[in-house]
Amino acid sequence: MAAARYSPCCSFLALLLPPLVVLSAAAASYETKSIDPGLVVMTLPQPVSGPESLAFDGRGDGPYSGVSDGRILRWHGGRQGWAEFAYNHKHKSVALCAPEKKLVVPEDVCGRPLGLQFHWKSGDLYVADAYLGLLRVPARGGLAEVVAAEAGGVPFNFLNGLDVDQRTGDVYFTDSSTTYRRSDYMLVVALGDETGRLLRYDRRARRVAVLHSDLPYPNGVAVGADGTHVVVAHSGLSELRRYWVRGPRAGRSETFAELPGYPDNVRADGRGGYWVALAPGLSLGSGESGAVAVAPVVAVRVSGDGKVVEALDGFSFVSVSEVAERNGTLWVGSVDTPYAGKLKRHAG
Ligand SMILES: *[C@@H]1O[C@H](CO)[C@@H](O)[C@H](O)[C@H]1NC(C)=O
Repeated sequence: MAAARYSPCCSFLALLLPPLVVLSAAAASYETKSIDPGLVVMTLPQPVSGPESLAFDGRGDGPYSGVSDGRILRWHGGRQGWAEFAYNHKHKSVALCAPEKKLVVPEDVCGRPLGLQFHWKSGDLYVADAYLGLLRVPARGGLAEVVAAEAGGVPFNFLNGLDVDQRTGDVYFTDSSTTYRRSDYMLVVALGDETGRLLRYDRRARRVAVLHSDLPYPNGVAVGADGTHVVVAHSGLSELRRYWVRGPRAGRSETFAELPGYPDNVRADGRGGYWVALAPGLSLGSGESGAVAVAPVVAVRVSGDGKVVEALDGFSFVSVSEVAERNGTLWVGSVDTPYAGKLKRHAG
C-alpha cells in the first residue's frame, strides 16, 4: 500500500472527450466500491511501465502483461516479481531496443504489446502489438513471431484489443484506426476517426478476415460465452457493441451496453458478463465550495444482458486500462503506471 498516488486529473483523453452525462449516485442502481483500500501494487522493474492488458495461462498462472519496452513480462508472485516471458525481433535486431540497456525506448521502434490472451489448449499466447502486428509466443515463451501484419490489403496500423475463442482457437482483435497510430490516439478521439476495424485470425486457415471496417475507435474486445458474438468497446462512444460473428445473425451488430465513461479493455467476468475498464471523462467536484476530489469511476461490471451491475472507483491509477477477475481477485492493468494492481474481490 506504499504506492505512489497518481493524480487522476490529467489524462489528455479526458480533456478531449465530450462531457459525459454522469448518473448521480442516487440514480444509479448499482453499488460503487473503491479499489484504493486493499490494493496490492505489483511494481514493474524500472524503467518499464504500462501493463495495459493482463492474461493468465492455461493453469491460471500469471498474470502476463505487455509493457512499454515492447516485451511481455510474467508475474511470479510477491517475492520474485516480474520476469521476462517474451520479446520480439526488434529486441535482437535493433540495438536501442535491447532490454539489457534498460533505456526508455521509442515504442514505434521496439513495439508496444497491448491486448493479449492465451489459447489454453495449445499454450500459445497471442498479442496485439500496436506497431508490429499480430504476434504469437509459444507456450515456453521467448521470441514472438509475427503471425500477420495486414488484412484485406490494408496494413495493421494501431492494433489494440484481443481475445481468443477457446473452443476454436480463433483470435479476435481490433485495429483502432487505419489512419492514426497509437502515438496519435488523441487525434482518433479529437477528429472522430472512423477507420477502425474488427478482425479475426482463423487458426486453421491461418488467415485474417476483416469482419467490420469504418468503426469509431474500436478498443477492447471479448468473446461472448457461446462464441456467436464478440463485445467491442468503442472508446469515443462510451458504449459496448455486440458483433455477431457466427451463426444466423453473423454480420449484424447492435449496442450492448451504455457506459458511464469511455471504455478501454473488456474481459469476460466468468459469469456471462464483462469487466470494462473506463477512462473517466473530466469529472469535476460538484460541491459549491469546489475542491472536492471526486474519485473517478475506473471500471464497471456489465451483466450478460448489458446492464451495469457494479462499479469501481479510486485514485490509485492515472487511468485503468483493464480489470480481470481470477481466483476471487481483481487484477488491474494500466497503460501509464509503473505497476499493476490486485485486490480481493470481496474485502472482509
Ligand atoms: C489461481 O488458482 C490456481 C489453482 O489454485 C493456481 O494454480 C493459480 O496459480 C492461481 N492464479 C493466480 C494468478 O493466483
